[in-house]
Amino acid sequence: MRRALADGYELDDDPARIDVDFVFNYLSLESYWAQGRPREVVERSLAGSARVVGLYHTGAQVGFARVISDGAVLAYLGDVFVDAAHRGRGLGVELVRESVDGGPQRELSWRLDTSDAMELYSRLGFKERVAPPVHMERRAGWRP
Ligand SMILES: CC(C)(COP(=O)(O)OP(=O)(O)OC[C@H]1O[C@@H](n2cnc3c(N)ncnc32)[C@H](O)[C@@H]1OP(=O)(O)O)[C@@H](O)C(=O)NCCC(=O)NCCS
Repeated sequence: MRRALADGYELDDDPARIDVDFVFNYLSLESYWAQGRPREVVERSLAGSARVVGLYHTGAQVGFARVISDGAVLAYLGDVFVDAAHRGRGLGVELVRESVDGGPQRELSWRLDTSDAMELYSRLGFKERVAPPVHMERRAGWRP
């Protein structure tokens, strides 16, 4: 998949095109959810994702999202970001739209976690769960 957007922007799900340094630098240094994630872990997370979607501007990567899925029941959208210089012009919505509706996981049940971008995701069918079933997690590194 390769989809041209306005003003020289483009979405592409070719894993070979991902700028690993760009993704690693954002996640590890700037994101609020993956601070300090080692480069080797980022590389494995890319390799193990069902789909990775890059946002590009005149050839250079400026955004990213990835899909984790069993391909049958459930898909999880993670590590979504648009470089700060390119925000506020509808690219985040297009990046998420392509990630969720543009691939083979489109008919599955989707999950994601976010601290503040609920409005963006609600435009694409995501709803906050305010009643059971309750979302539970076991954090990496947990020991009894
Ligand atoms: C969230 C993010 C990907 C949105 O990218 P973007 O290109 O700026 O998004 P858009 O321009 O498509 O925004 C569309 C709408 O989403 C909403 N929105 C976007 N980012 C938001 C945020 N951080 N908080 C609240 N609402 C947000 C706005 O209501 C916006 O509506 P508007 O067009 O009426 O202003 C980007 O701000 C980002 O990378 N933030 C830092 C990383 C992050 O928080 N990632 C999400 C983790 S779940």
